[in-house]
Amino acid sequence: MLRLCTALALAMTACHPARSQTKAPEPTVRASVGPDVHSFSHPEAVRVGAVGLQLAVDFDARVLAGTATFSLQRHDRSAPLWLDTRALQIDRVEIADARPGDRPLADLEAAFTETTWQLAEPDAILGAGLRVELTAATTVVRVHYRTTPEASGLQWLTPAQTADGRAPFLYSQSQAIHARSWFPSQDSPGVRTPWDAIVTAPVPLRALMSADAVARDEHSGAHRFTMTQGVPAYLVALAVGALEFRELGPRTGVWAEPSMLPGAAHEFADMERMLAAVETLYGPYRWGRYDLLVLPPSFPFGGMENPKLTFATPTIIAGDRSLVSLVAHELAHSWSGNLVTNATWADLWLNEGFTVYIERRIVEALFGRERAEMESVLGHGDLEEAFGELAPADQRLRVELVGRDPDEGLSDVAYEKGALLLVALEQAYGREVFDPFLLQWFESHAFGSVTTAEFIDFAQRELFERHRPLPGRAAVSLDAWLDRPGLPPDAALPHSGAFDRIDALAAGYAAGTTAGDALLPAGWTPQQWLRFLRGLPRDVSHERLVALEHSFTLSRSGNAEILAQWLELCVRHGVREADDALEGFLRHVGRRKFVMPLYRALLEADRSADARRIYERARAGYHPITQQSVDALLR
Ligand code: BES
Ligand code: ZN
Repeated sequence: MLRLCTALALAMTACHPARSQTKAPEPTVRASVGPDVHSFSHPEAVRVGAVGLQLAVDFDARVLAGTATFSLQRHDRSAPLWLDTRALQIDRVEIADARPGDRPLADLEAAFTETTWQLAEPDAILGAGLRVELTAATTVVRVHYRTTPEASGLQWLTPAQTADGRAPFLYSQSQAIHARSWFPSQDSPGVRTPWDAIVTAPVPLRALMSADAVARDEHSGAHRFTMTQGVPAYLVALAVGALEFRELGPRTGVWAEPSMLPGAAHEFADMERMLAAVETLYGPYRWGRYDLLVLPPSFPFGGMENPKLTFATPTIIAGDRSLVSLVAHELAHSWSGNLVTNATWADLWLNEGFTVYIERRIVEALFGRERAEMESVLGHGDLEEAFGELAPADQRLRVELVGRDPDEGLSDVAYEKGALLLVALEQAYGREVFDPFLLQWFESHAFGSVTTAEFIDFAQRELFERHRPLPGRAAVSLDAWLDRPGLPPDAALPHSGAFDRIDALAAGYAAGTTAGDALLPAGWTPQQWLRFLRGLPRDVSHERLVALEHSFTLSRSGNAEILAQWLELCVRHGVREADDALEGFLRHVGRRKFVMPLYRALLEADRSADARRIYERARAGYHPITQQSVDALLR
């Protein structure tokens, strides 16, 4: 029997009868969410202290199989252990009363005995809670399991879907709640643990994780990893493929398929300088190395801040380093996000808003104020667009996600409104006060998970009570930013002088008063091109766009941001000359930020048959996260 939960009941106390079980003491088990409404774990009763993974990578079956071992902190001796899972096949669960100490857990040898466990009925958003019975003496739990091809956090690629076409590829994407689809975990950003892993991959492929690589056996293909600092499950990451490494600086380097490596090394040459720039502002980098892995083009995001090893889309390799603010962004997460982590997904702005703010400070330090301003203005444009589409409640920084998929809370609000709040504080108090304030935020909450309420208290104590706004500056009302829609009326909006000229040209070009295409200067930066394309009036004529294509062949731009923006304009204005480029792009690139607006534009241009035809061919190459979004759009 399956009972239906309302969204609210689901998040407060999920009401799920159990599935068939082995050795179950009762016929049913109910999973209830804990302090984090997106996790069935109850760390206040039994908290995972450390994790060890031992996994074999099977490309033929598209399965990871092995064990996850957990050491426990028992706060309530009578409580069971609750873990999150999704689409995992659990084979057996064992317990032991060993004292692992500092030894790796992955291959811990101890007197394990089998225990009783139950998997609750899966919830559509959260997956299935796994309840493990413990004895009074239990200190360690080992789960024998395998992933299924439905794992939302893994993408398995054929050789043809990679740059070099020679070997298959696997990578994980765990944020927000996809870690549970590839290892059982207390999958909440409020639960941080050190972890270690042994991953056996087919020889000669290379396995990489968001951790220190401590050993590799070239005969067995076993790779050992360790992460000694506590991190939440969403920051555990794995990639396997034919990958090679190129050093960029003493602490930085890039991993990519061999054919991609020279271009990547050129594009990311500034990584070491970026690292130094953030350290100047916010204190030492605490993670040892900072490397970047270039993924195949199906990666659903631009970048993911996996500790020590950012995962990135190849679409930021433009040849001219113009899109490296994404690297600055993922690097900035080494402070905002990885060192100080949002405690729940409703606090996402503490990760992303802080990170966009720091990203722009890095861009300013390396490339100058003008470029940082241009990027701020483009970001503000994205924010205004988001406000136009979001319900008022979702325009707040502190969002309500009870009963909702945290991926739904993902919008430009957390990013750009969050960053503008920090800009407002910076402007009110001046960098002399604000920079040390942020440094102190990171230092005093290092390796901790924080809520919005804690930030409010901290700002109250360390900023508002200790300092006065600069002369002529008003105090900042956090309430207005955090819990009200839109932007406060006194928000300082970014401005770029370099864009004023572009705006005038865009208007003139569309009106036909800017004489001819030749007048468009070729020396624009990509940011200026983006502004120009976004600044063209909605009623720009088909003929003016065709002329642009003829003059600049934008549909062959090597800059994915410009190309995506141009293709969208072409769809919206019926410029069919770009159709081949459109189809090629959609079949090659799976980055959700590019793919979604293009399918949406096709629908709005009454070309749903084209959208479906292209998607039919492209779908198999997309990541499950992108598939889910496009499925929902074209359903
Ligand atoms: N951590 C995010 C990606 C993410 C957020 C994944 C929430 C799943 C849930 C990452 O740092 C990010 O923000 N990436 C952006 C790029 C950035 C420059 C704005 C992206 O992928 O577009
Ligand atoms: Zn981010």
